[in-house]
Amino acid sequence: MKNIAILISGSGTNMESILRLKDECNFNIKCVISSKVGAEGLTKARKYNIDANTIDRKIYSTKDLFEKVLKMILDDYNVNFIVLAGYMLILSDDFVKMYPKRIFNIHPSLLPDNPGLNAVKKSLKSGRAGFTIHYVEPGEVDSGEIIFQKEVQIIDGDTTQSLHDRIKINENEWYPKVLDHVINSKPMSFL
Ligand code: GRF
Repeated sequence: MKNIAILISGSGTNMESILRLKDECNFNIKCVISSKVGAEGLTKARKYNIDANTIDRKIYSTKDLFEKVLKMILDDYNVNFIVLAGYMLILSDDFVKMYPKRIFNIHPSLLPDNPGLNAVKKSLKSGRAGFTIHYVEPGEVDSGEIIFQKEVQIIDGDTTQSLHDRIKINENEWYPKVLDHVINSKPMSFL
């Protein structure tokens, strides 16, 4: 079975959707790592008896040093795949190159539309919303190969918050399933 690490920065609903299915998914969730001290997701992860710790970028003088520590910890856990779930730091190309097609991200827009920050706000403005699961690859942020995406309807009166909440419900439903299929090379035909 493959070993995965989940990287978070915030509420961790996507992380929790994966942890909830941990007995059905064919991978071992070795650890949760937060970039943010006190992230809500850390408390949620510990309820599932998963090692959950923070690696605070602020205490490292350079990004390079920070990523070396991150890599050391991932190696200690024998991590094969990295799952980004609301992780707010951008990994360097050098780091990403060490995990070719082995880092996944979920983004709350229909990429290539609205990459980066404020994706939901921009989607609401454009009238087309959804989410995308993609590989993290060197280059522009959120530009890696798309694995799966789904449109989420915008409803009259939607705010950025209400739309993001609905997008997350959809993300939470699909992220664990898609990961299980990709990581275990199962055919994606059911999607
Ligand atoms: C999600 O909308 C995800 O697409 C984006 O950040 C949000 C994380 O939410 N990358 P959560 O922490 O999983 O609740």
